[in-house]
Amino acid sequence: MRILVVGGGGREHALCWKLASGNGVEKVYCAPGNAGTAEIAENVDIPVGALDEIADFAEDKEVDLVVVGPEAPLCAGLADAMAKRGIRVFGPKAEAAKLEGSKSFAKDFMKRHGIPTAAADTFDAPEPALDYVAAEYAAGRAVVVKADGLAAGKGVVVAENEEDAISAVKECFSGKFGEAGGAVVIEELLRGEEASILALTDGNTILPLASSQDHKRVGDGDSGPNTGGMGAYSPAPVVTDELMTEIREKVLERFLRGIREDGLDYKGVIYAGIMVTGDGPKVLEFNARFGDPETQAVLARLESDLADAMLKTAEGKLGEVELKWSGEPAVCVVMAAGGYPGSYVKGDTIRGLDAAKAKGALVFHAGTAVGENGEAITSGGRVLGVTAKGADIKTAVDNAYAAVAEINWNNAFFRRDIAHRAISRI
Ligand code: AMP
Ligand code: GLY
Repeated sequence: MRILVVGGGGREHALCWKLASGNGVEKVYCAPGNAGTAEIAENVDIPVGALDEIADFAEDKEVDLVVVGPEAPLCAGLADAMAKRGIRVFGPKAEAAKLEGSKSFAKDFMKRHGIPTAAADTFDAPEPALDYVAAEYAAGRAVVVKADGLAAGKGVVVAENEEDAISAVKECFSGKFGEAGGAVVIEELLRGEEASILALTDGNTILPLASSQDHKRVGDGDSGPNTGGMGAYSPAPVVTDELMTEIREKVLERFLRGIREDGLDYKGVIYAGIMVTGDGPKVLEFNARFGDPETQAVLARLESDLADAMLKTAEGKLGEVELKWSGEPAVCVVMAAGGYPGSYVKGDTIRGLDAAKAKGALVFHAGTAVGENGEAITSGGRVLGVTAKGADIKTAVDNAYAAVAEINWNNAFFRRDIAHRAISRI
C-alpha cells in the first residue's frame, strides 16, 4: 500500500511514523513534511493548499490512500478533489469539514442533534453583538467570543471581563481575521477541565480513540496566551469510564446520527474538544482532523495497525476494526522557539536529537527543516514534540523530560508542567 500524508507538523510526523509500520505499507509520502518525516517517508515539495497538485501527485504515484492532516485543505475541498479522481481519502468532504470551519454551522448542528454545548448566539454586525455582551455581563455572566471561520486557533477570546469581550467583538469585525471575521459567535463561558476525544468514523460506525488532554496556554500553570498546544498526554484520567460512556452516548452517537441525517460525507476523524462541567460534558468545538499535539501522545499508545484502520475508514468498513491500546500512559512535551506564539527566529540548528532518542523517546518534528549540511534546523514556532511512555503517568513525564534535557538550540523553551492535572489526581 502507498500512502500520502498531507501536512508538515508534529501530527503528520506521528501519522507517518505509525502508518509506516503498517502491514503491507510499502511507501509513505508526506507533502510537504519536515526534517522528521524525511527520515521515514519521502517528502514531496507540494504545499497543503495546492489541491490539484496534490491530486495529480496521488494519481501519478498510484497512491492507495491519502491522509489529510490539517483542517485548511479539508475545508478547501481536498477530500472532494480526491473522491472525484477515485482516490481513497481519510478526511471529510468540505461540506462536512464546516463542522470545524464554521463555528455557527457547528453550533447549529449541535443544537439540532441534541449534543450538549455552551448556549450561544451568532451575530453578523457589531452593534447587536455588543448589546448582547452588555446584557450578559449585566446579568453576571461571562462570555467567550469566537470569530466564525477558521482563524488558526487565534479567533477565540475567553473574556473574564466585559472590556475583554467588547474589544474581542470589535477586533473580530475589524477585518483582522479576513473572511472568518464576517460573523461572531458569542457563547456562555464554561468552567471545568478540558479533554480531547478523538474518534474514527466512516459514517456508519464511530470508534473512539484513547482520551487525551492538551495544554493550550504557553506558560507553566496555564498562564499566558493560547497556543496551538504546548503538550499532551493520554489517557486523560478526568475521562473516567463512566464519563466516557456519557460522551459516547451524548456526543459521539448523536454526532454520527447527525451527519447521517444531514447527509454529510464524513470519513475520517472527529475531534471533540470537551469541557467537563458540573453539568456534564459539553462540546467546546469540533475539529475535522487529528489534534496536535494530542495525536503524538495517542498514537504512541496505539498497538493496532493504523494504516489498516484508516483504509477501512476510507472504504466505509470501519465496523471491521478493533483498536488495541498500550496500558502505559504517554506524554508529549512540545519544545518551541523563543517568542512563540508571537514572532520567533527560524534557522537555528537543533542539537541532541540522537541523545534524546537514545533515552527511548519518540522525537516528533513539527516546525523543522533540513539545513544545508543535512542537519535539522528550526522553521516554525512549535519545533518538536518529545514523546515518551512510562509504567505510570509520573514515569512517562520523567522519561519525556529526560529526553527533552538532551535537546537544545538558541532560545528553545518548553513547559515544565505537562500532565500536572493527571499528576495532581494521584
Ligand atoms: P475553540 O477554538 O472553540 O476550541 O476554543 C479554543 C479554546 O478556548 C478551548 O480549548 C477552550 O480552552 C477555550 N474555550 C472555547 N469555548 C469556551 C467556552 N464556552 N468556555 C470556556 N472556554 C472556552
Ligand atoms: N491541540 C489542539 C488542536 O489540535 O486543535
